[in-house]
Amino acid sequence: MVEIFDYDLVIVGSGLAGLRAAIEAARVGKDKLRIAIIAKNQLMRPHSISAEGGSAAVLYTDEGDSFDLHAYDTIKGSDYLGDQDIVEFFVRQCPVDILELEHWGVPWARREDGRVAQRPFGGHSFPRATFASDKTGFYEVHALYDTLLKYGNIDKFHEQFVYDVIIENNRFKGVMAFDIPTGQVRIFKARAGIIATGGLGRLYGYTTYSHLVTGDGLAIALRRGIKLKDIEFVQFHPTGLVPSGILITEGVRGDGGILRNAKGERFMERYAPTKKDLAPRDIVSRSMMTEILEGKGFKGPNGLDYLLLDFSPIGTEKIKEKLSQVRDIGNHYVGIDPVDSPLPVRPSAHYTMGGIDVSRTGFTGVTGLWAAGETACYSVHGSNRLGANSTSECVVFGKMAGDDSAKWLLSGSGSIDLSEGERSFAENFVADAYRDKGDNDPYEIKRELWTTMDKDAYVFRNEKDLTEGLSKIRGLIEKSKKISISEKGNVYNQNLITSLEMKNLVELAEVVVYSALQRKESRGSHFRTDFPKRDDDNYLKHTIAQRVDGALQITYRPVTLTKWKPEPRVY
Ligand code: FUM
Repeated sequence: MVEIFDYDLVIVGSGLAGLRAAIEAARVGKDKLRIAIIAKNQLMRPHSISAEGGSAAVLYTDEGDSFDLHAYDTIKGSDYLGDQDIVEFFVRQCPVDILELEHWGVPWARREDGRVAQRPFGGHSFPRATFASDKTGFYEVHALYDTLLKYGNIDKFHEQFVYDVIIENNRFKGVMAFDIPTGQVRIFKARAGIIATGGLGRLYGYTTYSHLVTGDGLAIALRRGIKLKDIEFVQFHPTGLVPSGILITEGVRGDGGILRNAKGERFMERYAPTKKDLAPRDIVSRSMMTEILEGKGFKGPNGLDYLLLDFSPIGTEKIKEKLSQVRDIGNHYVGIDPVDSPLPVRPSAHYTMGGIDVSRTGFTGVTGLWAAGETACYSVHGSNRLGANSTSECVVFGKMAGDDSAKWLLSGSGSIDLSEGERSFAENFVADAYRDKGDNDPYEIKRELWTTMDKDAYVFRNEKDLTEGLSKIRGLIEKSKKISISEKGNVYNQNLITSLEMKNLVELAEVVVYSALQRKESRGSHFRTDFPKRDDDNYLKHTIAQRVDGALQITYRPVTLTKWKPEPRVY
């Protein structure tokens, strides 16, 4: 039997965006709305806790920072694919929300004079990454969770695997899930929903993303015919720790760390003479891969050749105070204390610039359905996000989605009914997922996907690799329809979860690679060696991907420019 819950608002995902949305909806709803927040993990263990270096905000206009400067940096960083009106809105909102986080308990680092400290970050022309040591996301999640606990009308559901949304006649009606500890199938019926399940980073094998981030919300949206935007743009963070890919924060370079090749050279001086190691991530990642491909790297395991991140200019005391977590990571995962020796690093899949195509408030175009955070594409980041703009984006736009959905609910959004067909679909979906349909192993398909994406859709791309990659991915999609699940129990069935996540990933991989193949230019994180130049005449436009009658369709939409004309990106 399907268990049915009935809410006004259901929020899927408990990262920074989901938590912030829940708080705002509760605040606006003033006890009149019944809200559920549900997550695949424990609510306090979203991937957002892995955010390390900081959250961007203009705090010091008295020292030369300004909204225009933050907006310009973001737009130039986006390689002019960011919509300038939304960027201008975003940068104005950041300080408001960063201050609010302070009031809710985030222990922002301080300067000697007691004012909030900020560190330099890549592509920003002012040190505006507000930070809490190198555990910024961890503290932000905890402060938001503590704040959420103050509201009595938010029910919290841990360990729920959401596999579909219910939409009828373009009207959202709820989500389908199963309870991971028991396997119980559930429908969270709700008049409104917010999807905040993060990006799609686990498409890649070598990545900073936790194993949680399997693009679930994005894949569900795609299957339901909701538009995805700019999905070909995946960010590779320059300093993933080899061989795991774990994030070594850009804060290391912000605080003075330097990238070196095998000859000991500070090679970034050659690629970005002004910003050097603090150029935007797309440029640093390409420079690193150029060094590696020219044989100036070190041989790494499984082809993961690497360069070195030298902490020595920072000094031991500062490392202990501001970078204690990455020091622990070095010690724990590779047995290297960065106080003594440099860490082995290489670009690692880190962030999804694209997402569900939404309005400024996160509205998806489906009545009653919003998206928030990395799952959504507001077009703030365009083709390359600047570091520290993401955690800020999650709180700024999480709040917007919570506010907008709550106001819409309060204005009287009508009632919804579930049909018998929807109930039986929910039950049959899970029963069917257990059934053996062939001999393919879901884990093996996932491994093949990782190998394909790491090779064919990494920092440098070209027609041949993308075409081969697309054909392999389409083969994997077919294989994913003929799998067997060896574990049949209901309790914490990791086998079942992996197979459903794998299906989400292969379907999204097709969109990433197909969109990348169509974009015959180089812009931001998408670099085509066969089309090495940005082509504003033909591609200053957003890619919109949508499944129509089962087929993937690509259309384009113009970028919104306000006061910054596209110009060459020189750093
Ligand atoms: O390097 C970092 O700490 C990552 C920050 C970000 O992606 O914004």
